[in-house]
Amino acid sequence: MTVVGTATRLPSTERVGMSTEPPESTVSPPEGSPSGPSRRTFVATTTVVGGAVVAGSLVAGPSVFGAEPADAAEAPPGSRVSLTVNGKRHTVTVDNRTSLLDLLREHLGLPGSKKGCNAGACGACTVLVDGRRVNSCLTLAVRLEGAEVTTIEGLAKGERLHPLQQAFIDQDAFQCGFCTSGQIMSGVGCIDEGHTGSPEEIREFMSGNICRCGCYVKIVRAVEQTAHGK
Ligand code: FES
Ligand code: FES
Repeated sequence: MTVVGTATRLPSTERVGMSTEPPESTVSPPEGSPSGPSRRTFVATTTVVGGAVVAGSLVAGPSVFGAEPADAAEAPPGSRVSLTVNGKRHTVTVDNRTSLLDLLREHLGLPGSKKGCNAGACGACTVLVDGRRVNSCLTLAVRLEGAEVTTIEGLAKGERLHPLQQAFIDQDAFQCGFCTSGQIMSGVGCIDEGHTGSPEEIREFMSGNICRCGCYVKIVRAVEQTAHGK
């Protein structure tokens, strides 16, 4: 990249006359100096050769720089992990970089947890791990050996909805529904933690879950209904 930068920068510098050196034709080489290329010749050569190197690298690929071809590169490191999801034991081998969210959605066929921001900012991916709510997009799957995970798919008992799921319906606490599974999982955690003393407290402890449809008032009512039977 340095070669490219040099090749593109120097000609423009010369064009706007910022060089303080006299024209090459007026400068004689010092007595006894080696008869190598002048600065201008060197730059011109570098520009051409540099272009050739860059072009060559594009054609020849990483091997120009001594790297292995892609097909000979090492496979990403993977690990075996056993965990229980919604009461069912799973043992899987995953890339060490796999998030719990991707494990659920891509490997275990559980798409109820949503990928909103994939960066811990929206709460759409909220699940319970050993009873605590977590952003599954920020949780590495390989760190969950032996963990108990509960997702939205694991809340209902057969045809009987979890009380908070029913409360969301009763209170009409959603519009598009994209945030709803995360809201409900977070609400379950909030209730289990006992942070339901007031609407303000519920709002505070549910503040990590964003609803772009603005259903906050009804979401708080649904949590209250479940926590206090209101
Ligand atoms: S998708 Fe995990 S916090 Fe947004
Ligand atoms: S219901 Fe649409 S984002 Fe919450």
